[in-house]
Amino acid sequence: MIHVQALDKSYGTVHAVRNLSFDVPAGELFCFLGPNGAGKTTTIKMLTGLLRPDRGVIRIGGYDIATDPVAAKTLMGYIPDMPFLYEKLTPVEFLKFIADLYNIKEASTRRRIDDSLQSFGLGEARTSLIGDLSHGMRQRLLYIATFLHNPRVVFIDEPLIGLDPHSIRMIKDLLRQKVRDGMTILLTTHILALAEEIADRIGIISNGSLIALGHMNELRAQAGLEGRLEDIFLKLTTDEAGLSSPGGARRMTAPNI
Ligand SMILES: Nc1ncnc2c1ncn2[C@@H]1O[C@H](COP(=O)(O)OP(=O)(O)OP(=O)(O)O)[C@@H](O)[C@H]1O
Ligand SMILES: [Mg+2]
Repeated sequence: MIHVQALDKSYGTVHAVRNLSFDVPAGELFCFLGPNGAGKTTTIKMLTGLLRPDRGVIRIGGYDIATDPVAAKTLMGYIPDMPFLYEKLTPVEFLKFIADLYNIKEASTRRRIDDSLQSFGLGEARTSLIGDLSHGMRQRLLYIATFLHNPRVVFIDEPLIGLDPHSIRMIKDLLRQKVRDGMTILLTTHILALAEEIADRIGIISNGSLIALGHMNELRAQAGLEGRLEDIFLKLTTDEAGLSSPGGARRMTAPNI
């Protein structure tokens, strides 16, 4: 469902993504991990057609994002790390607007919007201004908007930022349910326990390059470690930084401030 081949992107002298290749089959939840500045958001922006790669090929559901962008984008939903919402609209108005954008004409749409708002705990806020909603309420609204047109593939840049424990559980259950129903999901996160819990496969990017890809057991084998993803992630990204930078390993110690 997601095909990425030899992707490259620089911002001036910063080489953000280097020769990145991977595939995500339909119905998989793929977690894309990496230290700050590794190139995750840059990659997602290229996959969603917001940023043009310098080199490489991206296909979404078989459609080339460069030559067939509308067909590719029709299949996708996207929750960015810093989302934009229309503050002067109400949740109901915003969701109707999204339904119009995707040309959703079913008579049942209004009902679906109301049901979704209710089940995401936004029933009472349905006619408040979005500008007056809390951060977590806006996040939940974004999830409703993203799933409204039944996308086949969804990209989420940091899915749990600012959500309370109830919302986190709800989103985790929602994502797993969608994947069981055949949706493909690629998400980035720094919450390694989340990746360990819900990912089918994990890719780790460091300094713009993919340094590990596979199931938990394959990552354990690559790191030569048993145990939790946190240890494996720290080992792999520290080894990589140690090899690639003359200054040695990336590991940071507590700052003396
Ligand atoms: N618009 C931009 N202009 C210049 N440099 C950029 C731009 N966006 C990102 N970069 C640089 O590209 C590199 C990769 O950034 P990116 O945002 O993709 O990292 P990330 O893996 O998403 O990090 P984080 O975990 O902090 O979100 C970084 O060195 C960053 O400074
Ligand atoms: Mg990012």
